[in-house]
Amino acid sequence: MADEVIIERDGQVGILRLNRPDKLNALDLATMQKLLEALERFDEDPDIRCMLLAGSERAFAAGADINDMADASMVEMYHRNQFARWERIRRVRKPIVAAISGFTLGGGCELMMHCDIVIASETARIGQPEINIGIMPGAGGTQRLTRAIGKARAMDLVLSGRMISAQEAFEAGLVSRIVPVEHFYEEALRVCRELCAKSPLALRLAKEAVLKAHELSLSEGLEYERKLFYMLFATEDQKEGMRAFLEKRPPVFVGR
Ligand code: COA
Repeated sequence: MADEVIIERDGQVGILRLNRPDKLNALDLATMQKLLEALERFDEDPDIRCMLLAGSERAFAAGADINDMADASMVEMYHRNQFARWERIRRVRKPIVAAISGFTLGGGCELMMHCDIVIASETARIGQPEINIGIMPGAGGTQRLTRAIGKARAMDLVLSGRMISAQEAFEAGLVSRIVPVEHFYEEALRVCRELCAKSPLALRLAKEAVLKAHELSLSEGLEYERKLFYMLFATEDQKEGMRAFLEKRPPVFVGR
């Protein structure tokens, strides 16, 4: 049986590629489990500094697999507790860069929103179409989307189920950069390699601080940020980074 998720390494980048081309990378339970396990393994691996999550050119992921859910009862869905996996993805500490292209829908859009930097091909089509099949988003779509792009636009996507273009998503603040389709994967990998040259501890704490902005009030968030900022002065990487700047040479960060 083909692997639902192709797992590779490129230097210090852990690469995960969704691989259900016939199903537009629909996220069935097996795929979600493999994805989660691979992300957690990379997160614990001292030789990996960031992760790249990609689908194909035609689809990043067209949502949760509808076959898994079509006949499920409420009680089955409740006991399945599939969102526990998403909670664990949320707790991954290393940066995750998403390379998205084509259909990025439903759970695919929610997965994209769990990533930290989103490199989108100009062909990406993004949306939360659950309303069209009689349900609604369940892996954070109503919450993260609203925080990312505001109530008016989130309500439009969630209630109409329409797809937006990469350009519209970029203007709304949902994706980080748009690149021509022939370069989107390479560009995401280039971004990952760039992150690998930074201090791994600074990257993780910076990610943590930005994510807290969704959860805390401004004054709590500023306090939180300040504490993480001070913490970095306990690292060798801070000393190395500043010394290298003053000595006009590139820094070598070791993650201590
Ligand atoms: N779950 C299960 N299978 C899916 C799927 C999903 N979310 N999205 C696509 N597929 C499957 C299709 O059933 C089809 O399989 P088949 O060839 O065995 O019939 C295959 O992927 C290709 O999809 P198809 O619909 O033929 O491609 P298209 O280009 O005509 O349309 C989409 C593409 C994305 C617009 C359409 O597939 C779609 O609307 N998918 C569902 C999106 C959705 O509602 N996601 C949220 C789920 S909670």
